[in-house]
Amino acid sequence: MWKMNRVLLLFLLVKLLVFAVPIHGGSSLDHNDIRKPYIVYMGDVPEEATKTSVEHSHHDLLAAVIGDEEIARGAMIYSYRKSFNGFTANLLPEEADGLRGRDGIISVFPSRKRKLLTTRSWDFVGMPLGVKRNVAVESDIIIGVLDSGIYVDAPSFRDTGFGPIPSKWKGKCSKGANFTGCNRKVIGARYFNLEHLSPVDSSPVDDDGHGTHTASTAAGAIVKDASLYGVGAGTARGGVPSARIAIYKVCWTEMCSDVDLLAGFDAAIADGVDIISVSIGGPSGDYFKDTIAIGSFHAMKKSILTSCAGGNSGPTEYTIENVAPWITTVAASSTNRKFVTKVKLGNGLTLSGSSINTFSPKKTMYPLTSGSKAANSTTYGNASVCDDGSLSEDMVKGRVVYCWDYSGQDYTIANLGGVGLISSSDIMSDTAFTTMIAESTLNIKDGRAVDKYINSTKNATAVIYKTTSAKRIAPFIASFSSRGPQIISRHILKPDIAAPGLDILAGYSKLSSVTGDPTDTRHTTFNILSGTSMACPHVAAAAAYVKSFRPSWSPAAIKSALMTTATPMRIDDRLHELSAGSGQINPVKAVHPGLVYDITYSSYLSFLCKEGYNSTDIGILTGSKKKFNCSSLKPAKGTDGLNYPSMHIQLENATSGISAVFYRTVTNVEAQNTTYKAVVSAPKGISIEVIPDVLKFGNNGQRRSFKVVVKGSRTTKTRDIMSGSVEWRDSKHRVKSPILVYIGRYMYEGS
Ligand SMILES: *[C@@H]1O[C@H](CO)[C@@H](O)[C@H](O)[C@H]1NC(C)=O
Ligand SMILES: *[C@@H]1O[C@H](CO)[C@@H](O)[C@H](O)[C@H]1NC(C)=O
Ligand SMILES: *[C@@H]1O[C@H](CO)[C@@H](O)[C@H](O)[C@H]1NC(C)=O
Ligand SMILES: *[C@@H]1O[C@H](CO)[C@@H](O)[C@H](O)[C@H]1NC(C)=O
Ligand SMILES: *[C@@H]1O[C@H](CO)[C@@H](O)[C@H](O)[C@H]1NC(C)=O
Ligand SMILES: *[C@@H]1O[C@H](CO)[C@@H](O)[C@H](O)[C@H]1NC(C)=O
Ligand SMILES: *[C@@H]1O[C@H](CO)[C@@H](O)[C@H](O)[C@H]1NC(C)=O
Ligand SMILES: *[C@@H]1O[C@H](CO)[C@@H](O)[C@H](O)[C@H]1NC(C)=O
Ligand SMILES: *[C@@H]1O[C@H](CO)[C@@H](O)[C@H](O)[C@H]1NC(C)=O
Repeated sequence: MWKMNRVLLLFLLVKLLVFAVPIHGGSSLDHNDIRKPYIVYMGDVPEEATKTSVEHSHHDLLAAVIGDEEIARGAMIYSYRKSFNGFTANLLPEEADGLRGRDGIISVFPSRKRKLLTTRSWDFVGMPLGVKRNVAVESDIIIGVLDSGIYVDAPSFRDTGFGPIPSKWKGKCSKGANFTGCNRKVIGARYFNLEHLSPVDSSPVDDDGHGTHTASTAAGAIVKDASLYGVGAGTARGGVPSARIAIYKVCWTEMCSDVDLLAGFDAAIADGVDIISVSIGGPSGDYFKDTIAIGSFHAMKKSILTSCAGGNSGPTEYTIENVAPWITTVAASSTNRKFVTKVKLGNGLTLSGSSINTFSPKKTMYPLTSGSKAANSTTYGNASVCDDGSLSEDMVKGRVVYCWDYSGQDYTIANLGGVGLISSSDIMSDTAFTTMIAESTLNIKDGRAVDKYINSTKNATAVIYKTTSAKRIAPFIASFSSRGPQIISRHILKPDIAAPGLDILAGYSKLSSVTGDPTDTRHTTFNILSGTSMACPHVAAAAAYVKSFRPSWSPAAIKSALMTTATPMRIDDRLHELSAGSGQINPVKAVHPGLVYDITYSSYLSFLCKEGYNSTDIGILTGSKKKFNCSSLKPAKGTDGLNYPSMHIQLENATSGISAVFYRTVTNVEAQNTTYKAVVSAPKGISIEVIPDVLKFGNNGQRRSFKVVVKGSRTTKTRDIMSGSVEWRDSKHRVKSPILVYIGRYMYEGS
């Protein structure tokens, strides 16, 4: 799951190693103990197929490769057949090899484990409480959320005033432990636990809080006076409070298996959701060995937009995830609110740190010490960073402790009976976290001042106040938000867009605690979390909002509208659009973008041909009986081969100059008889020419094509990032596309 906390960040590497250990499945029958779950992906459901015929074909394939009917039956885990074709089975590596290349099979790959990665956020992106809505249509929109489940009893999911469930809905609501059913707001709830990540097949209930948070960010009802114990107080609401929610629980204790994820997509598409929100990460690879790319491809074919979190591995380059061009990849931006936690020292000095401290001090001052002063000399570990086991309980009990660095020492200090923690760190200083005890993270300079004060007196004292809100200049991209460029389709700019993901207040599950730690006794229905996980449902909701006014638009048209009307980041970012994509969403503006860059299903197929996927595989992908041939399609032209709303050139080097051509077609979605002129902004050393640079439109719906020629001279620079743009303007609209040139080389040993 993709919410952030500092501890998670530090232990990420360790966890990844743990997750790489294969899950042993099935009975002990014939090697079953060493079989591993593999996904066998078979493209679209064949024409004229029935449930039984598809399941039979899966079983026959499996039996043929295993060579034993009985074992094959035991090895089968799941047949995907509603929205696409494929199955999951426990296989030996040689059996997986035996399936590869067989008729009708596109890819065979092991199931991996992935991670899950608002009061004010909607005001901040220009959607005040009273924004114009098309409620009648909005209430027919269903947002499918693939996540850790949902806590329906949270106030965000009250269904007061909701009409009957939309008649197009074909999904269901599974009941189970701690989950008594759905309502008119949360109309669907299912769970998939096919790899038994949870010891019991329980229910769609959210015992983590993540799914409740993302679902309520997207479509939570309006709740007045929401806060986390008074912190972040305001009116909480989803972006489309009248829309319906369908939850697909595919994550268990912060892990999400590919098998469950794909089953979630299979069901959601068939159930009739309009938008899919996936706040789950995982390294991107070949599109047809990546379950999120596969699921979202079939969603796109059914005109369902998929919004995905771009990952929390920033601020390093080449960290962006979920990059398939039919996905809307979301970066996390800030709102103009930050959380400030003040610390006062016995010498009168007051310092400002960041954290989400819900505890009000009971005394005016508390005794203060530091990790190095409280060291237990008989033990190991680094006491100055307050490592677990390095401190003496006597010295900590009843005191506020100053620790160098921040790595979740609040657990250690709390366990030793400490009353507070002051830490110092310059990493991720833009993000505030909830902690077990009163805490404030200062910058390193201020941390030194605290340490110096402690050393200067025998009885140092301090107090940590409850967190308050303050303004900050925004938007900027959160430090943890993953950055481009991507390495799969090198000329498609990712992330696409940014949305608030820093310190977001939204619904939460009472079955989890505020920090998620079982010893934390605070249970609430609102919590403040950060991550691209929180940004992703903002975009899902923005897409639903646009769709409520433009019901017939394709996912690509909606994405284009969101991208070309986005607000550029105000604060300089050395990576430019590799951090933010086109900028921060502005849903209201996106309803009237002027022009859209649309992409049809068959243009995606041409793009795949250009990317080197062969006719046989693409033929299976389409599920058509007719033999598919890449040369029968209009070839994908130009540098990127797709009518994308942004333009990107990624070169290893520019020793022979920079040269690219982008072919584009825009569709007029507004008034008749309008003329657009191209306004170019070119970075130093780059020429950008738009041909033609005037486009005249008669009717709404009319299309016009143009090309953008980008040229630059030779350079021996090994790394360079240059950012320009082309903007189409008529009297009312500005349709902006960033043009980003990246010269550099992905170092496998690096980042
Ligand atoms: C297409 O690619 C697959 C592997 O991805 C390969 O097995 C197959 O032979 C290829 N087909 C053609 C016609 O090149
Ligand atoms: C149901 O909720 C209770 C606490 O209210 C918890 O102890 C129990 O583990 C939950 N069961 C499941 C299956 O989530
Ligand atoms: C303890 O941690 C601090 C801060 O990271 C570091 O400067 C110091 O060298 C460490 N000490 C030992 C003994 O590892
Ligand atoms: C110091 O460490 C030793 C060895 O781990 C432990 O037995 C002792 O209780 C610790 N002392 C305090 C005061 O925490
Ligand atoms: C405070 O004293 C500790 C040793 O007790 C030392 O490691 C630290 O550097 C001192 N801090 C400052 C700011 O002088
Ligand atoms: C320690 O605290 C007492 C009051 O609690 C104060 O009178 C005394 O001056 C302090 N000593 C130092 C060294 O600050
Ligand atoms: C695809 O079409 C081209 C031209 O129409 C033809 O030359 C080629 O043989 C066809 N390939 C296949 C595999 O049918
Ligand atoms: C420049 O990049 C191309 C591939 O884009 C590569 O073939 C060539 O070796 C590179 N040249 C240098 C000098 O690195
Ligand atoms: C657009 O132009 C055409 C032809 O010049 C004209 O007939 C039509 O009325 C105009 N429409 C609008 C809305 O101005």
